[in-house]
Amino acid sequence: MTFNILKIIDKDHYRENLNEYTRKAFIKLPVMDKPKILDVGCGTGVPTLELAHISDGEILALDIDQEALNCLDEKIRAIGFVDQVKTVNSSLFDMDFPSGSFDLIWAEGSLFEIGFEEALRDWRHLIRDHGFMVLHIPHQDHQARISSIKASGYRLLDFFLVHHSIWWSYFYQPYEEHVKNLIGKYQENKEVLKVLKIEEAEIEMFKKNPEDNSSIFYIIQKV
Ligand SMILES: C[S@@+](CC[C@H](N)C(=O)[O-])C[C@H]1O[C@@H](n2cnc3c(N)ncnc32)[C@H](O)[C@@H]1O
Repeated sequence: MTFNILKIIDKDHYRENLNEYTRKAFIKLPVMDKPKILDVGCGTGVPTLELAHISDGEILALDIDQEALNCLDEKIRAIGFVDQVKTVNSSLFDMDFPSGSFDLIWAEGSLFEIGFEEALRDWRHLIRDHGFMVLHIPHQDHQARISSIKASGYRLLDFFLVHHSIWWSYFYQPYEEHVKNLIGKYQENKEVLKVLKIEEAEIEMFKKNPEDNSSIFYIIQKV
């Protein structure tokens, strides 16, 4: 999605309605002094900036989508977080940071690329001893994940469900209304309309099988 279309659609405005769950996960971690946080698959940075507000940490926000990163960079400048939050264009498959670089790895909505067990395995060395990981993903395979956490050298500190009814009421329902309005407004703009149709399809997919769309936060510690 281009920078301009991201701005027109302003999905972030609706994504921010779920920030309270990012906060809920963060406060389940022990208090840390200026934690170094890696946000994997940050997108336009809605959880990133929430973390910046609630931690006094340094955040490295990583994504492969440069347009999304440009959008996040603009927000970082606007709120004066340039020293606290940096962006990096990289694939989550190529995170060659030195071992132990981070107190906390945060990943919301980006594990579909790599898989849960693979992320646990491949990212473990990036976390300092007894450091943390917070993963937010669709709710499927919960029991298997609980086993993998232990088997992969972590301790499950906590987890919680974000029920599909929350996704509907706080995100998809208001976003659907917004997308409908934009479709009316941008009938003559093929480029914007094409993206809006993709957004509409995502909403329809949610409505078809809402119960598939609950998600879970896992709060885990490297042991
Ligand atoms: C559903 S969005 C989640 C964005 C943000 N974390 C949030 O919760 O609002 C998934 C993000 O993962 C990013 N992504 C997909 N494949 C990636 C990869 N191989 N490396 C890094 N980021 C990737 C996408 O560009 C997108 O920004």
